[in-house]
Amino acid sequence: MSESAKVEISRGLENVYIKATSLTFIDGEKGILRYRGYDINELAKNAHYEEVIHLMLYGELPNREQLSRVKDTLNSSYEVPEDVLRVMEVLPKDSEPVALMEAGLAALATHEKGFKWKEGDREKALEIIGKVSTITANVYRVKEGLAPKIPKPSDSYAKSFLEATFNKSFSGTETSMMDNFLVLYADHEVPASTTAALVTASTLSDMYSCMVSAITALKGPLHGGAMEAAFAQFREIGDPSRVDEWFERNIVKGGNRLMGFGHRVYRTYDPRGKVFKSMAETVSKGEARKYLEIAERLEKLGVRYFEAKKIYPNTDFYAGIVMYGLGFPDYMFTPLFALSRTLGWLAHVVEYVDEQHRLIRPRALYVGPGERKFVPLDQRK
Ligand code: ACO
Repeated sequence: MSESAKVEISRGLENVYIKATSLTFIDGEKGILRYRGYDINELAKNAHYEEVIHLMLYGELPNREQLSRVKDTLNSSYEVPEDVLRVMEVLPKDSEPVALMEAGLAALATHEKGFKWKEGDREKALEIIGKVSTITANVYRVKEGLAPKIPKPSDSYAKSFLEATFNKSFSGTETSMMDNFLVLYADHEVPASTTAALVTASTLSDMYSCMVSAITALKGPLHGGAMEAAFAQFREIGDPSRVDEWFERNIVKGGNRLMGFGHRVYRTYDPRGKVFKSMAETVSKGEARKYLEIAERLEKLGVRYFEAKKIYPNTDFYAGIVMYGLGFPDYMFTPLFALSRTLGWLAHVVEYVDEQHRLIRPRALYVGPGERKFVPLDQRK
């Protein structure tokens, strides 16, 4: 029997399980998402990002003492070597923001000496989560031509990040919007970026390399780039009165993808998308309000049009409006996704290496020509 007769290729690795996990549960039919058993809606309402960090890395929500240990470690990890920020500063100002983030992380990796899996790797993950806040804040600062800034230790990771990025204070409501964003994007099982991190971890490479792999996979418009792409649609439409005409021309007749819609796993509303929609309703003023109205109309048209295919808004559809309402330019949306998802990437690689490690090495089914005789250059046609 030939090899091709025995093999079934799963395009896009659909329905292929590459690991067991106690981290995140998704029911794509019912629209349920849970981190270690806790419903995402409950966590978004009640838990701070630092509590979710402890939950994901150590298995349980922290008590007060554990929480303050997490906060202390984060606060003591914001500092990065000066050359890391200098590397980011000397790169072209028009670099893609995610490429700047990659460069910052790769520069941090040059300071990494003697990393060993299973020896304090959860603490290493915490340290990286701290440093990613510094890198992300400085993506914005470098792009805007501002002097680098290190987040200041505080009671809140979200607050330290916002204040370092914009060099101003934020209200409690704004800080909790940022905190909610971080909680909602923290993990989502094994999408392309987490899978890329796992492939790298499976070779027993170091954690920063896992981060770089993940972030490069995140960048594309079919994954982490979708928040920016969805927002670009709202900008292009420009006014709620133009939504119907735009939809007809671009989606119905043009056959283009509606960005911020559809998901490999969900066949209903993404539960995170619903939370972001209600957050957008509270944060949106001025331009953001207009984009919200555009998005709401687009949602109605999209849900009706795609009903048979079960394509619904995903988390990226409304999240950009929330971040825009907080003052972030569109180009920061993917770096913000990466900031939050660092937790999921690292929690998954630690879980994989510590508990179920094996080199990830799939196969490709050869479908090219059979054996051929080599033809010297001057005899080829
Ligand atoms: N707009 C229009 N059609 C769509 C969309 C969409 N957003 N999503 C899926 N479809 C259609 C496809 O055209 C295809 O139709 P066909 O069977 O008639 O050819 C069918 O649905 C299946 O599409 P696939 O791309 O095979 O489905 P997949 O499971 O790979 O889709 C994906 C997942 C890539 C996310 C897709 O829904 C998409 O491109 N969405 C837009 C980009 C986006 O919002 N990405 C963010 C995902 S969430 C995240 O990463 C945080």
